[in-house]
Amino acid sequence: MLSLSVNGESHSVDVPPDMPLLWVLRDVIGLTGTKFGCGIAQCGACTVHLDGQPVRSCVLAVGSIGSKAVTTIEAIGDTPSGQKIQQAWLDADVVQCGYCQSGQIMSATALLKRSPNPTDAEIDAAMSGNICRCATYVRIRAAIKQAATGKPEGMQTIVTAPEGAAS
Ligand code: FES
Ligand code: FES
Repeated sequence: MLSLSVNGESHSVDVPPDMPLLWVLRDVIGLTGTKFGCGIAQCGACTVHLDGQPVRSCVLAVGSIGSKAVTTIEAIGDTPSGQKIQQAWLDADVVQCGYCQSGQIMSATALLKRSPNPTDAEIDAAMSGNICRCATYVRIRAAIKQAATGKPEGMQTIVTAPEGAAS
């Protein structure tokens, strides 16, 4: 039996110590907001925080966590940085299919916490491991900047055909 602190609550879980944290979160504790993508630490869909640091839960053995605090997407809005990021995500209408977005928000929140006004280079470095098949990257960057500055970022202009043009 392992004891695990998740989102401020203590859980006793009867699982093998080499089981990835992602499996424990989703299948044992029932927190399904964290997603499975690649299973080999390549896509970022499974990102959670361990003592505030973003980690890939698909490759993290639950037995290696010890007393460190796990935070998932279900509770990230309870932190000041997470709250700002989630609001900016809504304002910038970031989400498309949504599958990658829990991981994106977890990585973005960790970035904002350690760097309250990140440069483009810092954003790229922090977010490069989070893949989005819907290519929401421009909106993600804008939302991170909005969360940092409190002001909406200039979004890409949407070009529409002039009235009467053949479509
Ligand atoms: S599912 Fe963990 S990084 Fe892809
Ligand atoms: S919003 Fe669809 S994969 Fe990112």
